[in-house]
Amino acid sequence: MTAIIDGIALARRVSQETADTVSALAVRLGQAPGLAVVLVGNDPASEVYVGRKIRECRKVGLRSIEHRLPASTREAELLSLIADLNVDPGVHGILVQLPLPPHIDAGLVLDAIAPGKDVDGFHPVNVGRLSTGTGGLVPCTPLGIMMLLDTVISDYRGLDAVVIGKSNIVGKPVAMLLLEREATVTVTHIETRGLSEIVRKADIVVAAAGSPGLVKGFWVKEGAVIIDVGITRVTRPDGTSALKGDVAFDEVQHARAVTPVPGGVGPMTIACLLSNTAKAAALSLE
Ligand code: GUN
Repeated sequence: MTAIIDGIALARRVSQETADTVSALAVRLGQAPGLAVVLVGNDPASEVYVGRKIRECRKVGLRSIEHRLPASTREAELLSLIADLNVDPGVHGILVQLPLPPHIDAGLVLDAIAPGKDVDGFHPVNVGRLSTGTGGLVPCTPLGIMMLLDTVISDYRGLDAVVIGKSNIVGKPVAMLLLEREATVTVTHIETRGLSEIVRKADIVVAAAGSPGLVKGFWVKEGAVIIDVGITRVTRPDGTSALKGDVAFDEVQHARAVTPVPGGVGPMTIACLLSNTAKAAALSLE
């Protein structure tokens, strides 16, 4: 029997721990830790994500400080807002929702966030810290993926892990985290040849390609642990729609464990954002 790794239940436990940390921090800080959430423009998916992040912040007792800016916002204006948030003692975490409008250089904006407030873990200082294993704030989705894996794996040493997708948000950082645990990590991507053979050898599969149903049952080794990061809305022939992961979920009954879509990685990403905000607030006291 394949175990279904319940991301909703784990996220609830992580958020409960964060709520406890947040109330202790509020006493020491004199106010609840604050997360500034910056949304530029009105991309519908981003609106949904940001709304969810703000709602979950409040549930664990974090203050959320919203900055909704029009799509026409100039890069210099956004950089100036970030400079203000960087020095605002009431702001412990800063999240700039991506994607940004095309006239704004996202790299420049992410680089402008103070590394200690970079709860997304996208700043080059935090990326460098992750790759050298020297602490810092770790991107939320990879952090959540490791917590999900930790529910079924205690010793990663020598395990073969394959990561499908090389994004800065998921693929590269999760590869670093797996490497840190001494798994043997293969990072694959759209140009990789013989992907199915590579996956077939893996004890751990992290699928973050954004390609619904990409990983077929026969690609997966008996007893493998699968984390499905993909979440794509697909329209069925009858016109209804559903969210689909990168893994053909119904074909992997021979896996040891798998995350469902939805209800796997997604809830953990937000839970880790909240715990990163509490961590950033705690670091501000050091
Ligand atoms: N857009 C899609 N995923 C993310 C994320 O993890 N962080 C931010 N800031 N924007 C995103």
